[in-house]
Amino acid sequence: MKDKVIKIPVSDIVLDESIYPRENIDHKRVHVFEENLRDGFSFDPIQVQACSDPDPAIQKIWYRVLDGAHRWTAFKNTGRVVIPAIVKTLDGADPLLYAAKQAIGPKQLTEVETKNTARRAFQSNPRLTSAEIGRAIGRSRQAVDLYIADLRATTLLELDLKIFRLNQLGIPQDRIAKRLDIPQQTISRYLPKMPALAKWVNSDLSKGFTVPQVAQKHDWTEPMVWSQALQGKDDQTRFKALNWGIRTWDLWNFNDCDKRFGDVWPGRIPAQLVAHILYFFSKQDDLVFDPMAGGGVCADTCLAMGRRCWSLDMEDRPETRPEIEPYHWNLDSKWKDLPIMGSKGKPDLIICDPPYFDKKASEYSEQSISGLSRKEYLKFLEKFFLFLKIISKKNTRLAFINSDWRDFQNCPANKEEPGQGILVVDYYEIFKKTGWTLTHIIQAPLSSERFNAGVVAAMQKKKILGVVSRYVMILR
Ligand SMILES: C[S@@+](CC[C@H](N)C(=O)[O-])C[C@H]1O[C@@H](n2cnc3c(N)ncnc32)[C@H](O)[C@@H]1O
Repeated sequence: MKDKVIKIPVSDIVLDESIYPRENIDHKRVHVFEENLRDGFSFDPIQVQACSDPDPAIQKIWYRVLDGAHRWTAFKNTGRVVIPAIVKTLDGADPLLYAAKQAIGPKQLTEVETKNTARRAFQSNPRLTSAEIGRAIGRSRQAVDLYIADLRATTLLELDLKIFRLNQLGIPQDRIAKRLDIPQQTISRYLPKMPALAKWVNSDLSKGFTVPQVAQKHDWTEPMVWSQALQGKDDQTRFKALNWGIRTWDLWNFNDCDKRFGDVWPGRIPAQLVAHILYFFSKQDDLVFDPMAGGGVCADTCLAMGRRCWSLDMEDRPETRPEIEPYHWNLDSKWKDLPIMGSKGKPDLIICDPPYFDKKASEYSEQSISGLSRKEYLKFLEKFFLFLKIISKKNTRLAFINSDWRDFQNCPANKEEPGQGILVVDYYEIFKKTGWTLTHIIQAPLSSERFNAGVVAAMQKKKILGVVSRYVMILR
């Protein structure tokens, strides 16, 4: 079908340098076009792409030039109000490459322009192949390979690292491919290269460089370097190397989160807490499942402790946390689309750290279960615990991290309404109903320093009883 030509106000069109393949406008050429316009010549329509503001409230549409920058400049310079144009829909094609292809029709790009266009196109979309770029700019695949060799090396290194990390955590190849949006054959091609990657890191470690130094040098995360540094070591040695003491009693109190593991995240738990759960209730190479992984502390700790780990969360951060697969536990769905469904292997240990009911509702996104009413929250947990049984083995352990939730703020202890809060005994009732047997309750209190002196004084005056208790309930 022939493209429709419409007249667009010259002032609604912009020259967007990010998709303009030439270094400069050729003013001589514009001048010739201006003369032609005055002499009454007509021109082929220019090609533009329609743009709109990302904010839907701003409804203005404007256009950016895909082909015809010189003609448009001539129209503008001669005071024309409108210009004939075709509005192109690119259907996913790269706009810079499209513009380059149009540009080389009337006049070749210079060597510098060709090389820059190839590099800019690859930088904005590393999935473009050299052949695709070459076709647009009129060069061979080999020529493009040379233009972008250095860029490709760094991009691929990042991809290497992602594959390495996901593979180290025991995520199956089909899910790695889906997560990184690359063909599964690419993963199979990369995996044999992984020992070579690890070799450089191990060689620096054996020369006496520290884990943070090696992490910085190779652009690895610290937990990834720990996974290499501690390979073959037993759990006790790992704790020692990580500078954590092992508590052999049921009170696990830690002053702070260990900043080396996990991201800053609302409700982040200390890596030491995860490590203790791993130490007592799993063994090396076991598969751990974290269905609400948040800042990734569990996956990071599993790397250091030599466990595999599958993580899910509704917050998707593909660049920094590719190992956390996006998933929203929606109360109304049957969860048949769970990413881990159909994967071989079932978890040996589930570490479940859901947001507390109502507590941090404002810190999580709207669809978080923390926004549910008390009744719905409990209903969600019942369905959730039942479902965890379905995806478990006979001996799978569940470590459930939670605490009493009482609406103590501004309310004297003896005036708190029973039935408003959720106490650990309420969770216990649901566990009994859903076939889980409680084997341990470990106290892992929050720091009492979260109540500052002023707050404590006010609480004392009003006889308010706050909550710093937190428990790890272990079930089978
Ligand atoms: C307490 S945080 C987990 C913190 C994590 N253990 C850490 O230390 O970083 C709870 C997580 O549950 C996630 N979440 C809440 N409701 C969810 C839902 N319906 N589906 C999936 N994830 C959900 C939130 O995005 C949040 O990251």
